[in-house]
This record gives sequence, C-alpha cells and structure tokens, in this order.
Amino acid sequence: MKRTFLLISAITVFAALGSAQDDAEYKTAMKAVNASNRPLRMAVMGKDVAAASAEATKIAAAFDTIKAYWTAKKVDDAIKLATTAHDAAKTIADAKDADAQAAAMTTLSGTCNSCHMAHRGGTPPNFEIK
Ligand code: HEC
Repeated sequence: MKRTFLLISAITVFAALGSAQDDAEYKTAMKAVNASNRPLRMAVMGKDVAAASAEATKIAAAFDTIKAYWTAKKVDDAIKLATTAHDAAKTIADAKDADAQAAAMTTLSGTCNSCHMAHRGGTPPNFEIK
C-alpha cells in the first residue's frame, strides 16, 4: 500500500517536472523566434537574401520545438499555426530571391498574433502558455 503510494507520488513528481521543462524549452524557443524576427524583417526589407535566410533558419528550428510542444498536447489550432510559421520560415530560408522571401514573411508574421490571442496568457513580462 505504502509502496503504491510512493510510486504514484514519484510518477506525479516526474510528470510535473517533465511539463515544467517543456514549458521552459518552449519559452526559450519563443525567445529565439523573437530575437531573430526583427533582424529577419530588416533583411527582408533590405532585400538581403543571405541574411534573411540565416535568420529564418533559426526561426524554423525554433518552430520545430514549438510545433512538437503543441503536437504532444494535441492542440489542433496551435499545431496548425506552428506548422504554418515553421513552413513559412523554411521557405524564406530556402528562397533564392527577395520577392519569394517577402511573400513568406507576410505569412510568417500573420501567425504571431493569431497564436498569441488564443494561446498566450499572463501579462508582460510574465507570459504563460494557455
Ligand atoms: C503556435 C503558437 C505561436 C506562434 C505561431 C507564435 N507564438 Fe509567440 N508565444 C506563444 C505562446 C504560447 C507564448 C507564451 C509563452 C512564452 O512566454 O514563451 C508566446 C510568447 C511570445 C513572446 C514572449 C516571450 C517571453 O516569455 O518573453 C514573444 C516575444 C513572442 N511570443 C514572439 C512571437 C513572434 C515574433 C511570433 C511570430 C514570428 C510568434 N511569437 C509566433 C505562441 C506562439
């Protein structure tokens, strides 16, 4: 009996730790998106294809983590937005001309607000995932 209780407690603790770690990973990824977002916008505006590609590569990698988070939680609209954001960043990273990058940039930027309205809680600077 006591043993079962201990086992259950251990599982609960591990589950809680697991999700806290996922949240921390998520926030790190979101901060990485934000850190590259401005330089990316500047590069796209300045038609600097190589610089835009480099920043977009980092954003695509961060959205991989973000997409995995929502996939594990099975939140359909967030999975969709994270996928759109990831694919748009990947398009910018792979594109060879400034017009294609600008078009994908519009798609990428369109995901930020939609997802924040639905899934970002708390108040700055203490945002939460909801
Ligand atoms: C799939 C959903 C989703 C998409 C798409 C998304 N975000 Fe977020 N974002 C969140 C959630 C949830 C939080 C709250 C958790 C956190 O703070 O990281 C957040 C938080 C943030 C924060 C605050 C980070 C902090 O804690 O200091 C910034 C800045 C941010 N997002 C920028 C962006 C930008 C820029 C884009 C678009 C290029 C974007 N986000 C796209 C879901 C998303």
